[in-house]
Amino acid sequence: MKPLEGKEIILGVSGGIAVYKAVDILRHLTRNGARVTVVMTRHAQEFVTPLTFQVLSGNPVYSDMFKWDVKGKGLTHISIAERGDILLVAPATANIIGKFANGIADDLLSTLFLSVTCPILIAPSMNEKMYYNIVVQENIKRLSNRNIEIIEPMYGELACGDEGKGRLADIDLIIKKVIELLYSINSKVETQRVEQQGEKEDDLSNRTILITAGPTQEPLDPVRYLSNPSSGKMGYALAERAKRRGAEVILISGPTSLPVPSGVTFIPVRRAEEMEKAVFGHIDRSDIVIMSAAVSDFEPKRYSEKKIPKSDNGLVLELKRTHDILANIGLHKKDKIIVGFAAETDDIIAKGEKKLKDKRLDLIVVNDISDPDIGFRSDFNKVSIIDSEGKVEHLPLMSKMRLADIIIDRVIAIEFNKGYKRGN
Ligand code: CTP
Repeated sequence: MKPLEGKEIILGVSGGIAVYKAVDILRHLTRNGARVTVVMTRHAQEFVTPLTFQVLSGNPVYSDMFKWDVKGKGLTHISIAERGDILLVAPATANIIGKFANGIADDLLSTLFLSVTCPILIAPSMNEKMYYNIVVQENIKRLSNRNIEIIEPMYGELACGDEGKGRLADIDLIIKKVIELLYSINSKVETQRVEQQGEKEDDLSNRTILITAGPTQEPLDPVRYLSNPSSGKMGYALAERAKRRGAEVILISGPTSLPVPSGVTFIPVRRAEEMEKAVFGHIDRSDIVIMSAAVSDFEPKRYSEKKIPKSDNGLVLELKRTHDILANIGLHKKDKIIVGFAAETDDIIAKGEKKLKDKRLDLIVVNDISDPDIGFRSDFNKVSIIDSEGKVEHLPLMSKMRLADIIIDRVIAIEFNKGYKRGN
C-alpha cells in the first residue's frame, strides 16, 4: 500500500515564483496514493494556470469563495475543509502567512485556513529580506506556536538572482513531512484509523508488559557520551497501544523527546547499566517483555570526572562490552514472552533467526536499516517478524503505531498457542 493511499490532501498554492514547484509537489502526492484538492490564490494563477493543477490532480481547482462545491455538498470552504486530512500550503508567501497569522479571511485559501480542523503544514518561500523581516518572523512564530508545522525555506539562489534563505524547501522533505504528520503518534488521522478498525479493548487486561525504548547514553566525561539515533518512537507506540488494550505497562526509556503515554509506569534511565537494573527490578512481575531499546553494545572503559581536554595527537578511547540485557532475560525467562528487535543491513532474516535462537526469544522484529526512509527517526517502519517456530512474516511499510498493534497481536497469539490461561 502506498503511504498516502486513501488520504485527502488540500494543497494551498499562493502566488510566488515557486508556484511551478507546487506542480511537482502535486505529482509526488498523487504518486504516493493521495487524492489532492488544489486551492489557488488569485496571485498564484498569474504564475501557473489552474488547468495544469486540474489535469494533474484529476479534480477541479478552487479559488472562488462564493461557489457551490461541485464535489462536496455545500459552500466550497466548508466542504473542502471537511474532507481534508491535511492542509499543505506550498509555496506560502509573506502575504498569505500574514493573513493566516492574523485571522484575515478575504479569499478562499485564507478562509479555508480558519475552517479546517486537520493538521496544517506551511512551506514558506520568498525573498530573504522579506523572510527575515521582523513582521514575517513574528507571524511565522505565531503560527508555529499554534501547532502549525512550518517547513523552513532553504538557502540558495533566489528568483531575484541574490543568494539567500528563501527557496521553497526540498520537495522530498515536504512529502516526508506530510507523511510524518499524518501518521505521527498523536495525529488525529492515526487515532481515527485505529477507531475505524475497531479498538481492541482490554485484550491485554491482567497482563503486565515491560517495554524498553530509546537509545542509551554512555558518558565519557561530563559533556560527552556514546549513543545512537534511536528516537524511541517504536517503544512509545508499543507502550501506548498496550495501555489502550488494557495492560499494566512499565516503560523503561533512555533519553528521548517524546511525551510519556498516559497511565504507564515510566522509568527514565540513561546508561545501559541503569536500564539493566531497571529491567531486572521489574521483571518478576512482568508477563511480557519487549526490548525495543537501542542499547549500546559498548561503554567507555573509564569515565573521566573532568572534561577531557582536546589534544593535537587525537584521542584513543578504550571501550568495553555492556551486558546484553535481552540475552540475560532469555536465560531467566520462565513462562514469560520475550520479544527482541534487531537492526540489520544485510542477510537480515538469517541474522534475525540466529539472534532469536541465541537469545531464546519468542519473537524478533527485524529492521532493514539500509533503507533511509524507515527505521530510527521515522514514524514508519518496514519489518519482518520471525517467531520461534521459524515462521517469517514480511510486513509492508506502515506507521509504528499500526506495527505496535501487530506485534501485540502476535504476542497474544503466542500466549494462546502456549495454552496460557487468560485472566489469572
Ligand atoms: N540489546 C540488549 N542489550 C544490549 C544490546 C542489545 O538488550 N546490550 C537488545 C536490544 O534491545 C534489541 C536486541 O538486543 O532487542 C538487539 O540485539 P543485538 O544483538 O544487539 O543486535 P544489534 O543491535 O542489531 O547488534 P549486532 O548485530 O551488532 O549484534
